[in-house]
Amino acid sequence: MKVTVLHGSPRRGKNSDTLAERFLEGLNLSGKHVVEHFHINELQIAPCQGCLSCSDPPHNCKIQDDMQGIYNAYRASDIIVWASPMYWGYLTAQLKLVQDRMEALAWSGFENKTFAVLFTYRHHYQSAAGMFKRIAPHFKIDLHILECCTYDPETSRDIPIDELPEKLDEAYSLGVELGKV
Ligand SMILES: Cc1cc2nc3c(=O)[nH]c(=O)nc-3n(C[C@H](O)[C@H](O)[C@H](O)COP(=O)(O)O)c2cc1C
Repeated sequence: MKVTVLHGSPRRGKNSDTLAERFLEGLNLSGKHVVEHFHINELQIAPCQGCLSCSDPPHNCKIQDDMQGIYNAYRASDIIVWASPMYWGYLTAQLKLVQDRMEALAWSGFENKTFAVLFTYRHHYQSAAGMFKRIAPHFKIDLHILECCTYDPETSRDIPIDELPEKLDEAYSLGVELGKV
């Protein structure tokens, strides 16, 4: 299978990246998959300008930047991994930019994918999860959401994900499960 991983955190190798890594380890149990990673914070991606030129065939976005590589990878992929921490209860601004630019695929190409949505958060992820749940039926997305709280409210401490092995196991198991499809 082909897999696109959208890394929403600016913190390379931290919580949401680690969750994605464990997911891929589980996925790889079923064989070698072609995986393309996008660390969005390190790419040049302009915000959607709402010009709607993508509404006309062939539904391409006219902004020539790093999003063009994501369009190609997305179209070719079976599985899309959305790995993001919650910032103010939603996707990071980096990943929201990508999501807005997905408008060009909403006309054709966004549909019939499997989504592995991996969230890390302190207090709330429900708004972002709700968005994915609302769009999934319309685009015939096979949606899997794994949320991981990286905060201890009793001690007000951020918990590094390495201290949450059960969540890493969950990500691994999700990878194993989706690899069987
Ligand atoms: C600027 C900023 C805003 C945040 N806002 C929220 C929030 O609104 N809700 C929440 O649950 N967590 C929030 N967090 C916590 C992160 O989502 C959490 O620490 C996450 O595990 C970090 O993931 P990462 O290591 O992949 O960057 C925020 C963190 C930062 C840096």
